[in-house]
Amino acid sequence: MTEKARYAVIGNPIEHSLSPRIHAAFAEQTGESLVYERLLAPLEGFRETLEQFFDDGGAGLNVTVPFKQQAWEMADRHQPRAARAGAVNTLWRENHGILIGDNTDGAGLVRDLRVNNDVTLAGARVLVLGAGGAVRGILEPLLAAAPAQVVIANRTLARAEEVRDLFADTGSLAASTFAALVGPFDVIINGTSASLQGGLPPLPEGLTNPATVCYDMMYSQTETAFNGWARQQGVALRLDGLGMLVEQAAESFVQWRGKRPQTEPVMAMLRPD
Ligand code: ATR
Repeated sequence: MTEKARYAVIGNPIEHSLSPRIHAAFAEQTGESLVYERLLAPLEGFRETLEQFFDDGGAGLNVTVPFKQQAWEMADRHQPRAARAGAVNTLWRENHGILIGDNTDGAGLVRDLRVNNDVTLAGARVLVLGAGGAVRGILEPLLAAAPAQVVIANRTLARAEEVRDLFADTGSLAASTFAALVGPFDVIINGTSASLQGGLPPLPEGLTNPATVCYDMMYSQTETAFNGWARQQGVALRLDGLGMLVEQAAESFVQWRGKRPQTEPVMAMLRPD
């Protein structure tokens, strides 16, 4: 009997990750024979844990907080959409042990917006809040969807300007402080880590109209602080990151197994209405 291909999500902490449930559902749906586990790496021991996993015959890893940048550094080669992001959430080994790094977060976000929620990005005026690793990870696929403009607003303006310069040749990008923002925007994406602690950047009035779509990259069982703000602004379509989580997993699955699973039943399983 051949052994099942082994995958895992590596992070710290990792016990609450939904990825094992998502990938188990994908495997069952597509008839792929694999196991997918949680892998806790010590904060100072990411490299060793990763190397051990692959030396033991592991087939691929998803990478989550706080290791995405280290994963990017460890990859021997990057897929084009991961090269500039400086962050990797998907790893696998090719022939001769070459470690390939990909970032499926942006593709997952764009697919959740466009395919699952029918949001038009082409020609849209898009505001992205935050300029950290999470935002760098999504910018290339977002800009590839041809928005009219993407404004990156950040507490520290210099970081927003850095990100603007890094991606400037791929679309119309601007950097701003929160206070200087002038709305309304068609789509607002929250990529600040403030939302992990229930915080919210200081946002001025007038950023939205009723047709604005608000998207919090964070996922929560209850309404996120950002989506609470959006509700108070009168925004009708408010989304959190569950769809992105499932779609980025599907993109990783495609890379590893060459098959695209259906995401809708998996989202329904994770969030029964
Ligand atoms: P991640 O990998 O999650 O993006 P990061 O690289 O540390 O983490 O970036 C965190 C982002 O959230 C940054 O844009 C940060 O703003 P600064 O660059 O000014 O630090 C933003 N952020 C974190 N806490 C915030 C808060 N309380 N209000 C506004 N922005 C915040």
